Amino acid sequence: MRRVYLETVDSTNKWAKAHIEELADKTVIYTFNQTDGRGRLDRKWCNIGSDNIYASIVLKPSDTMREIYSNLTLYLCVVLSEIMESYGVKPWIKWPNDIQINGKKISGILAEGVEVNSDGYFKGIVLGFGVNLNSSEEVMNKIDQPVTSLNLETGYEIDKNIFLEKVLDRFCLLYDRFIEEGFLLIKEDYIKRATFLNKEVSVKIFDKIISGRVVGVADNGALKIVDKNNLEQSLLIGDIL
Ligand code: BTN
Repeated sequence: MRRVYLETVDSTNKWAKAHIEELADKTVIYTFNQTDGRGRLDRKWCNIGSDNIYASIVLKPSDTMREIYSNLTLYLCVVLSEIMESYGVKPWIKWPNDIQINGKKISGILAEGVEVNSDGYFKGIVLGFGVNLNSSEEVMNKIDQPVTSLNLETGYEIDKNIFLEKVLDRFCLLYDRFIEEGFLLIKEDYIKRATFLNKEVSVKIFDKIISGRVVGVADNGALKIVDKNNLEQSLLIGDIL
């Protein structure tokens, strides 16, 4: 994978989108100082210091958008979980792509597809991820949701460069097959880390909330829930509250 290191940047996703045309397929843009990080649902992604990772992978699998590409966040989620496990911790996935340890968020992913004109010519995908690697209880407590960092879970400092290299190597390992085979390739690896199966949940989809019991994840990565009227719905987007 090609690398572009930025000493400081407002948002690696924003930068990658702005430069998408000059960037080759499989290029990672990364920084250790992101000043205006963005999260899903228009939330912020806080800068918790320069010993943490803020990165965006630019992918250009083809010049038209395919449904499979939206599942790349699930693939990256499994990759990040596997790498964290190699540090001896037990991460869990909250659909679609939050990673938590003991109920506290440690990593988030924000995918943005970059489409161009009315012809639907597709420039690529920007797959942004942030991982809390090194922080303190004090800093974590200032964030408005339960969060943790890898050093707090392992008890020792994490080398951010080594962590990033492990993630990129692992990501490349099955990427080409994932693009061909889609979510089914990693479904088992995703499901075995899922926190939400058989639970009653509320899912926020834009300004709508759908509640029900999770009965599974479909082969296209959709969350399958059954509501109180016993109606099954498959949700492709949303956030479990
Ligand atoms: C979320 O959980 O809401 C997604 C957070 C994604 C944060 C990463 S950090 C690197 C990249 N650049 C951004 O502005 N956001 C993503």
